Parts: sequence; structure tokens; C-alpha cells
Amino acid sequence: MTGRPKSEPDSRSIAIFDSGVGGLTVFREIARALPQESLIYLGDSARLPYGTKSAQTIERYALQAAGHLVAQNIKMLVVACNTATAFALPLLQARLEVPVIGVIGPGASAAVAVSRGTIGVIATEGTVRAGAYRKAIHDIDSSIEVIEQACPLFVALAEEGWANTHVAREVAEIYLTPLVDAGIDTLVLGCTHYPLLRSTIRHVAGDGITIVDSAETTARAVAAELTVQKAIASNGAGARRFQITDASERFSRIAAEFLESPMQEVELVSLG
Ligand code: DGL
Repeated sequence: MTGRPKSEPDSRSIAIFDSGVGGLTVFREIARALPQESLIYLGDSARLPYGTKSAQTIERYALQAAGHLVAQNIKMLVVACNTATAFALPLLQARLEVPVIGVIGPGASAAVAVSRGTIGVIATEGTVRAGAYRKAIHDIDSSIEVIEQACPLFVALAEEGWANTHVAREVAEIYLTPLVDAGIDTLVLGCTHYPLLRSTIRHVAGDGITIVDSAETTARAVAAELTVQKAIASNGAGARRFQITDASERFSRIAAEFLESPMQEVELVSLG
């Protein structure tokens, strides 16, 4: 932490981290809610997917990503990856001096707020194996039924830019039909890649199911924490930086499409 007087604007960046393009769904909401804040986005594309890896590997990756970002004088870390949140959030919060915000708590609260009693959660294998959403939802309301489903192919479809193809539609039907048949009223997109497939998921789930993702609620949690920390930047447009750990062409294309703005420079970085 710097010796900055608490009443001064804080120009340090907020860092946002995921395994690939998925965390851009969180980046976009934070950028919209807090345009004056400087943001650094890190996508660990060289080691994607995280969702199929062990807890120990995810912890190691998350610590390396956090170390890389903290060295850039940040004021907050947002773990915009459900898998890394599920396995490494307490560890990161214990080790780092800056506040660390994950996506599962905000996503679970948003789902409980709208559900009538049966919540479906789609996520990576790791997040489902950790039972992270089940625990977070039951910490708020233990009477809610939670049905979890891993959808690993969704990450590949999002990274490939195939979110709105007939292939994605067929895969979504296989993954989601059991949840729809089980009578869920709310569906949590428990992987930050999945909002990129939102219209495909909406088509298969139908209009009667409320779809929740944690991007907006996470952005609200970030804004609230900045206020608590008295760490808000001064007015004006914040800088945006993008860093990835493997070839940038595909990242730039998908990011430009999703953020609806041409990508400036994407930096290639190496972790650990
Ligand atoms: N986007 C990440 C998540 O929210 C992980 C996707 C992956 O790398 O498997 O879990």
C-alpha cells in the first residue's frame, strides 16, 4: 500500500483476471460502472482452460497471476474467474495486501434475490466439483434447491468465437435440457465465459427462466469496496490495458466484438 492520504483520489489501477476472454464480461460491467477507474485486464490464455485443472494447480496459477498484477501497483484485484474464485479466493485474500473480490458471492446473492426456490447452476467442472455455488447459495438461504451442471465445452465455444452457431445451440440443448426438465426457475451462469453464449442459452432455456450472471453484481461490489477503502479515482477517463499470456489475435478479435470497440495494444506477458 502507498502512503497516500485517504482523502486524495487514488489513481492506481484495478486489476481483473481470468483464464481467457471470459472475464471481459466482468471487465465490461466494471468499465461501465466506473469509467474513471484505470483497469488492467489479464487473460491467462496460455494455460486455459482452468476448469478442468486440480485445486493445487489453480491455486498456483492464481498466485502467479496475482503476483504479476500486484507488481503493477494496483489498488484492488478482481478474480473474474469462478474456478479461481472457488479454489483460491481465501488464499489470495490472506496473502495480498490489496482487497480481493471474487465473482461467486455476488452471483449467488443475485440468484437468491430472484429465485422462487429452484436454482440451476452451470459452471466449469472445477467449480461444480468444489460445490462453490451450492455453498454460497445455502449460506444465504438453505431452503433453496440447487442443481449443478458442468458445461466444459462452452468455454471452448466462447474462446473460438462460436457462441452463436448451431454447434453451440446443440451443445446447449444437451447440457441444459435436464435442468429445464427439473423445473429450475433461475439459471446462474457460473463461469465468466458463459455470458458470451447468453443468447444461445436464452434460446434453449426459454423465457420462463431468469438468467443471472455475476458481472453486474461484481461491479457493484467493486464500487462499494472502493468507497469503503476511500480509493476512488479522480474524474476523467481511466486507462484500459490488456495483457495475455499467449498469442493475441484471437483475444483481440473476440474482445473487440464483445466490448464493441477496437482493441488497442494487447501486451503479451509471462507468468511464473
Ligand atoms: N472463465 C472461467 C470461470 O469463470 C474459467 C474457464 C476455464 O478456463 O475453464 O470459471
